Amino acid sequence: MQTIVTESVDVAARWLNRGEVVAFPTETVYGLGGDITNEKALENIFAAKGRPGDNPLIVHIHAPEQIQDIASEIPPTAEIFIQHFFPGPLTLILKKNTTVPNLVTGGLPTVGIRCPAHPVANEFLKRCNHPVAAPSANISGRPSSTDWQAVYDDLKGKVRCVLKGPQSTIGLESTIVDCSDNPPRLLRSGAVSLESLRKYVPETLPAAPAETHQQPKSPGLKYPHYSPSAPIELCGSGYPDCTGSANSAWIGLSSPPEKVSKIALCKTPEEYAHKLFSFFRECDREHIAIIYCEMPPEKGIGRAIRDRLQRAAEK
Ligand code: TXA
Ligand code: MG
Repeated sequence: MQTIVTESVDVAARWLNRGEVVAFPTETVYGLGGDITNEKALENIFAAKGRPGDNPLIVHIHAPEQIQDIASEIPPTAEIFIQHFFPGPLTLILKKNTTVPNLVTGGLPTVGIRCPAHPVANEFLKRCNHPVAAPSANISGRPSSTDWQAVYDDLKGKVRCVLKGPQSTIGLESTIVDCSDNPPRLLRSGAVSLESLRKYVPETLPAAPAETHQQPKSPGLKYPHYSPSAPIELCGSGYPDCTGSANSAWIGLSSPPEKVSKIALCKTPEEYAHKLFSFFRECDREHIAIIYCEMPPEKGIGRAIRDRLQRAAEK
């Protein structure tokens, strides 16, 4: 299949409305979209990524008013999060409407809903005839794509169209909060921090610890994730200090040890999040033998970075 790369939201939306799979930019990471009413398109998303069928897709919308077509109930806690964080890097899990196909939700009675803030995503979604189901636009298990070249490297020949936009500003996937139960529970950390969710809904529960990931509330959490080819060694902040070695790379907030050959020294946790996945992909291209990753403090977006690093380091 020929993969068309375009900067035109009209062209990209036309392909999607014809039932094709289209990658598009968002402020978190690039998504791999298909029309939620088109079974073939949904099947093609799973096939292109090599994604297990029980791992549900997030439904993307351009305006909060569309939620009532997808969810059967919008509880008061969800209303509060929608008011403060939509559009933005937050996905809400709500009880699904009967019209949402089981292929989207992996057979679950709930559905993930996100309204991206990225202007290109918003313009694209406005031109799509229906809401758009989209996982991150990467081969399953690889780091998520934060620029169109990464999407193209992973998926050329497997998807019809890539909508080219700027690099994702946040660089980590959305925060997921389950509002189908009371109190709401954080399922995946992201740029909308636990602290900011609790500012509006103080009873919001934290994410379950990693050891419960075999039976997770969010099916995607049980699969290996975010892994570059090189092994990852976690350092600092509760982990051993690293010594460095030949042909190694370092990403973190403090100065690297000696002998490291490739360095990403980040000034803030936000910059760390923004760079992380593209750094992993650069390390792969440069055949780096080991990547040392400094664990950031466990607060704000630091929680999300720690979560991605811990899961990337799992063997
Ligand atoms: O930022 C993001 O969320 C990006 C952009 C493209 O929007 N999307 C993304 O999708 O990261 P994906 O498929 O890579 O991760 C979605 C996660 C998976 O772990 C999946 O299991 C979980 O969301 N999920 C989806 N629907 C769910 C549901 N109904 N209940 C629990 N977890 C759900
Ligand atoms: Mg993903």
